[in-house]
Amino acid sequence: MPDDRIATISSVAPARPIAVSPKNPCPFLRALVAEGLVGGQFVPLATLSETIKAASGEQGLKAILAGVQVYFVALIANGLSPLRLLRSFWSGAELDALRDGPLDKHGCSSRILGTTAEVSEAELERLASFGKDRQDPSGGIERGLTIEEITAYMDANFDRAAGARRPIDRKLMNGEWPVLLKIMGKGDGEGRYLSVAEVRTLFVERRLPARIVARLPTNP
Ligand code: HEM
Repeated sequence: MPDDRIATISSVAPARPIAVSPKNPCPFLRALVAEGLVGGQFVPLATLSETIKAASGEQGLKAILAGVQVYFVALIANGLSPLRLLRSFWSGAELDALRDGPLDKHGCSSRILGTTAEVSEAELERLASFGKDRQDPSGGIERGLTIEEITAYMDANFDRAAGARRPIDRKLMNGEWPVLLKIMGKGDGEGRYLSVAEVRTLFVERRLPARIVARLPTNP
């Protein structure tokens, strides 16, 4: 019988965006996976930290600190048992298994992304309601949230989860939306804002703005 397996190997690049598991609840990591910038399963901690460090656009000491922070967040993200920590250390963070891990705030969040990865338009509108219309530096007016408005939004998210939240959840939020603002924000200083349209694209299409992708090394 002829061996026709060679014919089954496609020379066509995989369709983009790549599918992402609903068990990955982080919109930023979901976009990195969908863009093919990191794999969906075990991603070496050093790769993840280098990729996010590059995305941050920081230089020098700030870049090093951002990388170290991501390394330790990723180390504990799949579980805190000694065995799990050892596995994360050796094999990397399992991005398809972040749900229900120590960083999952179980509803003490924006609730934009549901447990089956469906996106709530109502929650996106709620996010937008915390912002104001702003002058886009590259032209036009768009809705966006400054750090002050993002803080009010996170406080409101924490408040509405009363009775079903851990004290650490509010601190975890500081490593999510404000960091997204730092990476993807437009404008400078106190006026720097997170574009609601770009957040929508991040959640719905799992796509980062082109200016951020341009900073990234192409991994696997
Ligand atoms: C600079 C890098 C990162 C940014 C900008 C970022 C941003 C975010 C944002 C905006 C959320 C949504 C929170 C919400 O819906 O209220 C989130 C959720 C989450 N992120 Fe990330 N993230 C980053 C890196 C990471 C890393 C390295 C991990 C772990 C390996 C991680 C794990 C998670 C998890 C588990 C959630 C779900 C939390 C929840 O819904 O309760 N993230 N992240």
